[in-house]
Amino acid sequence: MSRECAEHDGINLGQGICDQPVEPIIKAAAAEAVHQDRSTYSPFEGIAELRQCIAAKMQAYNGISCDPDTEVLVTVGATGAFVIACLSLIEPGDEVILFSPFYGYHRHILELCGARLRYVDTLPPDWHFDPERLQSMFNERTRAVIVNTPSNPSGKVFTDEENRQIARLCQQHDVFAITDEIYEYILYGDAVHRSIGALEGMEDRTITISGFSKTYSMTGWRLGYLVCQRALAERLGVINDLLYICAPTPLQHGVLAAFDLPARYYREMQQGYDRKLEMMTSACDAIGMRSFQPQGAYYLLADLGELPFEDDIAAASGLLERARVASVPGSSFYPEPEAGRRQLRFCFAKQEQDLVEACRRLREAFA
Ligand SMILES: Cc1ncc(COP(=O)(O)O)c(C=O)c1O
Repeated sequence: MSRECAEHDGINLGQGICDQPVEPIIKAAAAEAVHQDRSTYSPFEGIAELRQCIAAKMQAYNGISCDPDTEVLVTVGATGAFVIACLSLIEPGDEVILFSPFYGYHRHILELCGARLRYVDTLPPDWHFDPERLQSMFNERTRAVIVNTPSNPSGKVFTDEENRQIARLCQQHDVFAITDEIYEYILYGDAVHRSIGALEGMEDRTITISGFSKTYSMTGWRLGYLVCQRALAERLGVINDLLYICAPTPLQHGVLAAFDLPARYYREMQQGYDRKLEMMTSACDAIGMRSFQPQGAYYLLADLGELPFEDDIAAASGLLERARVASVPGSSFYPEPEAGRRQLRFCFAKQEQDLVEACRRLREAFA
C-alpha cells in the first residue's frame, strides 16, 4: 500500500510510521554524539547509561524491577527484541498463542522460527476474548503467549483481570509471556497501561519489550529494549550480539536525552493523539464507516459500513484511487482473512495538516 500510495501521490494512513519531528534535545544529543565520534560498537547489551535509564523507567512506569547490568538489553528496535526473544525461546514445532487481530510482524517472525500458532480471537467493539478459549489453547507443547498491549491494529489495552488470567495459565503450564508494549504511552479515555511482567510469579517468565520508535517519533532510529531475568538475558544477549552486534551507538547516546523530557511532553503527545483520533473517527463516521474506538496506540480499525465496496481489498484500492488516501486491508490482521474482509485500518499518527487533508479528501470523495 505504501508503494501504491507513492504512485498515486497519496497520503499514507497505511503504514504505522509517525512522521512528527523528533524533540530538539534528542536530536542535539545525537548530533553531539556523532560529532564526538561515538561511532564504534557499543557493548551488545547497550551503553550503561541508557540501561540505567531504562531500568529506572521500568520501575517507575511499568512496576518491574530489573538490574540494569544484567537484565536489560538495548536492541535494534522492539522488532529486534522480538526476534531475539523468539529465536532464543522457540524451537520448531513449539506452540505459541497469538491474539487476533495481530500485528503482522509478530506472526511472521514466529513463523520464521517454526512456531505453530494457536490463535485466540479478540472481538469488537471492546476486543474482549473468551477466557475458556484461551485456556483451551494451553497444553504441554505451548512455549509462549504473545501479549501486545496497547495492541496494533485493534488498540486493545489488556485489563488487569485479563493479564491475571494469562499469568495464571502461564504459571500453570510453565509458559513464557513475550510482551510488546511499544505503544504504552498512548492511551485513550480511562485506559491504563499494565505490564504482565509486574505480576507476582511472572518475573522469571516474562520478556517485556518496548522501544523508542513510537513514543519519541523515531521509527527510523531503530532503538528498542527488553527486560527479563538474568539467565535468559544472557542467552538473549548472545543472540543480539550474533545478529546485530549492537544497536546504533551514537543514537543510543542521543536517546538518553529522552529521559530528561518533562511530564508535559507525554501529556501533549497524548492530547495530540486524542485530537487526531477524534478527527479520524469523525471522517469515518461522515463517509458511513463504523469505527471501533481504540483504547490505545494510534490506529483506527473501521468496518466498511456503507462504503460501496465489496471487500477490504477493493475498499483500500478505492480509497486510494478516489480519495488518494492509503489504508491497510483488514484481512491482513486475521488468521482467517474472511474475519477482516469488511475492515480497514487507518494510522492517524500523521502531521496534523496531512491528517486534516486526508480527512477532507475522504469526505469529498465519499460523504
Ligand atoms: C506492535 C508493534 N510492535 C513493534 C513495532 C515496531 O517497533 P520498532 O520500530 O521499535 O521495531 C510496531 C510498528 O508498527 C508495532 O506496531
